[in-house]
Amino acid sequence: MTVHFIGAGPGAADLITLRGRDLIAAAPVCLYAGSLVPEALLAHCPPGARMVNTAPLGLDAIIDEIAAAHAAGQDVARLHSGDLSVWSAMGEQLRRLRALGIPYDVTPGVPAFAAAAATLGAELTLPGVAQSVVLTRTSGRASAMPEGETLANFAATGAVLAIHLSVHVLPRVIAELTPHYGADCPVAVVWRASWPDERVLRATLGTLDPAVGEGERTALILVGRSLGAEDFGESRLYAGDYDRRFRPRGAAPRFPDTGA
Ligand SMILES: C[S@@+](CC[C@H](N)C(=O)[O-])C[C@H]1O[C@@H](n2cnc3c(N)ncnc32)[C@H](O)[C@@H]1O
Repeated sequence: MTVHFIGAGPGAADLITLRGRDLIAAAPVCLYAGSLVPEALLAHCPPGARMVNTAPLGLDAIIDEIAAAHAAGQDVARLHSGDLSVWSAMGEQLRRLRALGIPYDVTPGVPAFAAAAATLGAELTLPGVAQSVVLTRTSGRASAMPEGETLANFAATGAVLAIHLSVHVLPRVIAELTPHYGADCPVAVVWRASWPDERVLRATLGTLDPAVGEGERTALILVGRSLGAEDFGESRLYAGDYDRRFRPRGAAPRFPDTGA
């Protein structure tokens, strides 16, 4: 018996890995975070599977479900939105499972920031413009930010920011970022990326209407100079004269082709 933690992706039912889909199809129990995981994914569950929406449950009740499946020798598919490495509440569940001696594994998923960037058709890391992406959030009712992890501190680096869980405090986000990035810095808000009712707003920090953050909260705020930039260098990787392991160049290539 194993609990399979599966990244269910950002919303579109076909943005799940083949491995994740197959694990769902083989598990007699499926626990899913119904607030963001699309119900369409449950169609992969085998006939007669026990499907539990964990959105209204507390941690103890979730672990009780898993422990019951463990006692019955039944695999569990545990679905969380996006990828499990960020804001999934997986860490606390894994800690309980380790204490109980219940085996688990983890299958990654497409994170929301990647889905939002895909919607925008944007490479966030453009040569000479931005080479770092910070996945962050602002403090919320349930989670305070550790000291030092402030928007201002991240902004001071000039990195692209992918700000989660924060569209409802858009006025604050704009106010804290503008002194660092400038009012002309591009920003995009993507609501429900990859869902059928996805919405996109492109603006600058200076032109973004702070009121657009009222209402739907499943949204990402992307801020950075690489959004919409046209004035950037080409990557050296594909430059004609660039000598590299998979494409040796010149009389004395750095990585000679040994024919091995
Ligand atoms: C609890 S976090 C989950 C993050 C998820 N584990 C991931 O890998 O992206 C929820 C927040 O992620 C963002 N989010 C999740 N799905 C999204 C989507 N489809 N479009 C835009 N933002 C999304 C929003 O900021 C939302 O408030």
